[in-house]
This record gives sequence, C-alpha cells and structure tokens, in this order.
Amino acid sequence: MNQVTVRSAGSLSGRIHVPGDKSISHRTLLLGCLADGESEVRGFLPSADCLATLDCVRALGTDVEMHAAGRLTVHGRGLHGLQKPSGPLDCVRSGTTMRLLAGILAGQPFDIVLTGDPQLRRRPMERIATPLREMGADVATTDGHAPITIRRSALHGWEHTLAVASAQVKSAILLAGLYADGPTVVRQPGPARDHTELMLAAMGADVEIADLDVTLTPGPAPLKPLDLTVPGDISSAAFLLVAALLLPGSEVTVEDAGVNPTRTGLLDVLDSMGARISADSRPRQGGEPTADVTARASDLHAVQVSGNTVVRMIDEFPLLAVAATQTRGITVVRDAAELRVKETDRIAVIASELQRLGADIEPQPDGFVVRGPTPLRGAVVDSHGDHRIAMALAVAGLVASGTTIVRNASCIADSFPGFAETMKRIGAPMT
Ligand code: S3P
Repeated sequence: MNQVTVRSAGSLSGRIHVPGDKSISHRTLLLGCLADGESEVRGFLPSADCLATLDCVRALGTDVEMHAAGRLTVHGRGLHGLQKPSGPLDCVRSGTTMRLLAGILAGQPFDIVLTGDPQLRRRPMERIATPLREMGADVATTDGHAPITIRRSALHGWEHTLAVASAQVKSAILLAGLYADGPTVVRQPGPARDHTELMLAAMGADVEIADLDVTLTPGPAPLKPLDLTVPGDISSAAFLLVAALLLPGSEVTVEDAGVNPTRTGLLDVLDSMGARISADSRPRQGGEPTADVTARASDLHAVQVSGNTVVRMIDEFPLLAVAATQTRGITVVRDAAELRVKETDRIAVIASELQRLGADIEPQPDGFVVRGPTPLRGAVVDSHGDHRIAMALAVAGLVASGTTIVRNASCIADSFPGFAETMKRIGAPMT
C-alpha cells in the first residue's frame, strides 16, 4: 500500500541491522564498471535509487550479476570500455545516479542524454554542468535541469572551488578527472562525504586528500576492482536511533552501521543535545569505519546547528526537526539552504507536515526554528514523494497520540526498503 499507518508507541528495543549504505552502494556500481576486472560487493542496497544506477551501468554495457542477499559481481569494463546505450539513460528519482554518471559520461567517446522522473528533472544540474564545462566537456542542460545532453569532447585538468559543499558535485568532477589530461583539484567549502575519493584510492587511483582539497591525477594504470562489504546506512539507522531516543524506556542498537565522520553530524548534534547515544567500534569495511550504535531514551535540550556540521548530516534534517519537537528549548538550524533543492524543498515540506501534527516549527530561508517540547497529535500527513520526509513523519507518528497516516509512502523504497518491517521488529506499531 502506498501509505504507512503508525500508532502511538510504547518503548522500542532490540539489536538490529539496517540495509547497506546508499551512497556507497551507488559507487560500487559506478566505480566497479570502470575497473579492470570483477568487483565483488556484499551488502549492496537494492533500493529504487541504487537499482536506477544498476540499470544505467547495464545500459552502458556492464554485466552485473546479482546473487542472493545483496551480493553482486560487477564485471568492470575498464576506463575505456563503456558502450553507447541505445537511448537516454533514465536516472528515475536519483540525484546521485545522474550527477555521478554525468562526470563519467563527460569522458566517453559518444554522445548521450541523461533524464529522469519529474521530481529529478526539477533539481538543479548547472552545479555539475558548469564545472564539467570548465574541464572542456560539452554539456547542455534544459534550463539548468535534466534532460542533460553530453557530447564527446576532450577533457583537461582544472582547479575547482565549489560554492556549495556537495559530494555529488565533487564526485562528478573527480570522475571526469579520470579522463582529463592533467590533475583535477576540488576545493570544498565544507567536508562533504568522501566515499568517492576513498574508493578511488582503494582502486589504485592517484588521489590526494589535504584537509578539504582533493586532487586526482589521472595515470595510465587501470583501476583495480573492488572487494568490499557495504556498511549499514547511518542515514537509515538514524530513524531507529532517534525513535529510541524519543520513546521512554527504549534501548535500540543498530549493528555494523557506517560511521564515516563525513556522515555522523547527526550523532554529534544529538550528543550535544544530551542524547544517551554510544558507538562501539567494529572492524572497518571497505576502508569505512563501522560501529554498533546504541540509543537509549533521553531528555533532550535544544541546540543550534550551523556551519560545517550541516553537510555532515545533510540528509538528517527532517528527522532532526522531529526530534526537536520533543526537545526542551528552541532548536535553530541555519546554513542549510541546500535542503530546499533535495528530493523536495525539505524546509517547506517538513515544516508544513509537522505543523499538521501540532508541532511549533517555523521555516527560515536557510533552515528552521522549532520550539519544544510539544505534544503531537496523530493526523494524515504526506511525504510529497520524498523518502526521508516519509520516514521522519513515521517517527513523528510514533511519538504522537492516536494514529498517523503517512500518505505517498512508497518512495521509502528509494533508500530503505523494508523500513516499516524493520521498525516493527524493534516494537514500533507501524504497517
Ligand atoms: C549524496 C550526497 C548528498 C546527499 C545525497 C547522497 C551522495 O547530496 O544529500 O543523499 O551519495 O553523494 P549533495 O552532494 O547534493 O549534498
């Protein structure tokens, strides 16, 4: 059914795994197809967004075998082995697919069109087209959006200074840099997730990371195939952990979650709000730090979130807004205007939907202000087709009195297939 029904919850408990990291899963395919040889991947996330990437790399001639339980073999075609697909590549609703592919395709000896669903066609694409053009790429957007047409051209190295801290933009540039005639430098204004550069380095590419600057020097050596286990997605784990913090008597552990420091801004913010949250380190997986993360019900107090923390938790703000409704004091989020160009305008949408549940939340141009704690009342709310809004509202429904219905909830499968079932296993009344 295209809705999730949530009832007011008692306490949650359990030790549980969440599905594989979405950002890393995309990259196992996008980088694996460029390797010389077979990449072996365990824990791949079969979400709608990652399956869009799978279809695209297959359309580019890559053979990908899907074995049981998230195991994949990607038969890499080498940097120069991709084939021209028979038509436009459909990235569906996945911004990561479109932006990272644009970087790879800028270096191919064929012309190609990237397109997607209306939701994706509303999102800004000049942010990748402009830097790719600076490298000599022939990229045309449609009034700044997809469809994007990329025509064959020679690429040169370039020094880019990003206006916005974005892993998708950084990654598109670095991937195009694999095809340039000299080094490509990306200077970031903040610490955007670094999975692309870590994986490229593991594949033998010449990547130097110096604070916020990343330099990729293309070389004649082929990329080595990957052999990795994708850690659990901390952005998915966050929904379980925050629900546990908010429901008295709860204790939930998410096992083997990825805790790359470019992704753990929410854990740091919750810690500063007084959350009883702890991380027990586990062995690294594919170069990524992992941990068993435990959250216990906590009394939270308000903080301000701004600056470099924002990019380290960019996908977690709808959920932070929910937590803030149950937090003592005034929670203020600033420097987060990027939220307006995600799958939806997440500032406007989370504010209007939480208001339906009785929250005191005020949207701001670059963030929001929440006064708490406020008792929430069950109501009918809408995800507007945004997976993270849908799941944040479902967590709000657990805290609210009565029953909450989250409409338009099939989008949850874009990042967290099995979300309601996973929540149910820790005791959340959700169907
Ligand atoms: C992602 C980067 C982020 C994030 C998105 C996934 C990635 O987007 O919001 O969910 O995998 O590179 P931006 O790079 O646009 O901030």
